[in-house]
Amino acid sequence: MGDIVPDDLEAYVDAHLAARDAALAAVEAQGAREKWPIVGPAEGTLLHLLTRLANARRALELGTAIGYSTTWIARGLAKGGELVTVELNPNTAKLAAENLARTGVSDRVRILVGDAREIVEDLAGPFDFIFNDIDKEGYPAVLPLIADRLRVGGVLATDNVLWSGQVARRGRADKATQAIRAYNDALAADPRFASVIVPIRDGLSVALKVRD
Ligand SMILES: C[S@@+](CC[C@H](N)C(=O)[O-])C[C@H]1O[C@@H](n2cnc3c(N)ncnc32)[C@H](O)[C@@H]1O
Repeated sequence: MGDIVPDDLEAYVDAHLAARDAALAAVEAQGAREKWPIVGPAEGTLLHLLTRLANARRALELGTAIGYSTTWIARGLAKGGELVTVELNPNTAKLAAENLARTGVSDRVRILVGDAREIVEDLAGPFDFIFNDIDKEGYPAVLPLIADRLRVGGVLATDNVLWSGQVARRGRADKATQAIRAYNDALAADPRFASVIVPIRDGLSVALKVRD
């Protein structure tokens, strides 16, 4: 996938993952075939584990795409839990709904269609787990909203925070790179969070909310 972890190491990591069931493997194959920017099996597994470690009953995902990461998170929810996932594109949301039925998590997932920056304003917290994977220029605006809606002890995970390494390179940065840098800087400086950037795929930031 990316320029962070060499391909042979990514393949080695992937070779040590549990096998996916046929339904999830089909969504993964669809992602590869149709070139959807989904998290892939290693990061999907990590999101699943983080959801379980947070003992999440209420989870929020921003950026559903075809429902791949959605499935990993939904399958990690505590009994009776719910995942609210937000997707900007209505046609994409329909594909996600079909896939979520196939992967057996429709009963636990509510898809909201629209711009996460607006929708989250109207969502009441607290959430136990939040995964942020929307357009990168939208990251800085969404951070205060999701930070406020996470419970103390909850986990915020954010994708693409290394942006193919561009965040760390000198010279002119495009808007997405600038936005991701601003997001990473704000999260690292926020006393409510203890956080680390995990160099998996395109970089996953993992932040524990330690206080209000
Ligand atoms: C990188 S993909 C998500 C991939 C998905 N999380 C996965 O790994 O399976 C980003 C998705 O977020 C949606 N998106 C982009 N900006 C958004 C926004 N402001 N609000 C809601 N969804 C957005 C896009 O339409 C796209 O489907």
